[in-house]
Amino acid sequence: MTKDQLIMGIETSCDETAVSIIKNGREIVANVVASQIESHKRFGGVVPEIASRHHVEQITIVMQEALKEAGISMDAIDAIAVTEGPGLVGALLIGVNAAKALAFAHQKPLVPVHHIAGHIYANRLVKELQFPLLALVVSGGHTELVYMKEHGHFQVIGETRDDAAGEAYDKVARTLNLPYPGGPHIDRLAHEGSPVIDLPRAWLEEGSYDFSFSGLKSAVINTVHNAEQRGVVIAPADLAASFQESVIEVLVKKTKLAVAEYGVKQLLVAGGVAANKGLRTNLEKVFADSEVDLIIPPLSLCTDNAAMIAAAGSVMFDKGVRAELSLNANPGLDIEIFNEI
Ligand code: KG4
Ligand code: ZN
Repeated sequence: MTKDQLIMGIETSCDETAVSIIKNGREIVANVVASQIESHKRFGGVVPEIASRHHVEQITIVMQEALKEAGISMDAIDAIAVTEGPGLVGALLIGVNAAKALAFAHQKPLVPVHHIAGHIYANRLVKELQFPLLALVVSGGHTELVYMKEHGHFQVIGETRDDAAGEAYDKVARTLNLPYPGGPHIDRLAHEGSPVIDLPRAWLEEGSYDFSFSGLKSAVINTVHNAEQRGVVIAPADLAASFQESVIEVLVKKTKLAVAEYGVKQLLVAGGVAANKGLRTNLEKVFADSEVDLIIPPLSLCTDNAAMIAAAGSVMFDKGVRAELSLNANPGLDIEIFNEI
């Protein structure tokens, strides 16, 4: 009998301090997330300096909590996987340095993980992956279609040219005076309204899998300002529904075209916006009768967590990917550099 593999994952790229331990790449043994959302709310977005301070305060507590939840000591851990980037540099540095200190003190291998690879691998905690596959990544910082021919190999076939989907959600929510993060509020409101307001869809050039959401965001802001100036009342629920319909229509249509062109076996959905009820229902409907196996993680694995970092870390560890103790945070890390390893 071979020994179980236990990987500790550490994630601090934005506003969640998270540590998780997973078994054999797929089974969650511990998953602790300390969210800072309350501290950032009054500023209407994540304040990098505040995020870093919270991570410093939380990281050791969260690590100890994860080991306690798993009922193990560091001796049992095979490797430590940490988010190297992308993200806020000050926030990333806390996780990277904590991981390095732990790896050095306990003489454990250190595995660098790309945050988006983590979001994609959250799906492996739901179901074993089958290649080739396509991942629709929709988070606060990223909107991408990623093709994977095998484990640990990522090819970005389309990405946003301006705002990420989550970013557009958060900015529109701000215009409607909704709290941060705005995505869940717009999602809830959208179900109370009707998509009666005409808003643009950015299809871009024929055959392009790229996205653009800044025009849509500006259209929403202009609609609100024009209405205010003319003293016209627009129902926020109708605006939310119209905005959500525009985002989902473009995401789903481009994903469907890419699934057909690339002939994939699975479609994975990843990132915070994958928690969107409208997007989930729409994708389920579109792929209900298709051969493609659609996987959407539960809400807790869609938003930032460390189980996804440990899941991606497990695959990278098996591939032999290691970081030196000189590892630095890389806020602009490219997902495709891992393909050569
Ligand atoms: O992946 P994530 O937790 O952090 C990043 O890596 O960016 O994504 C956070 C984003 C935020 O923009 C948030 O508003 C959005 O995900 N989000 C949603 C929903 N839940 C979270 N957007 C739309 N609908 C939701 N239900
Ligand atoms: Zn994320």
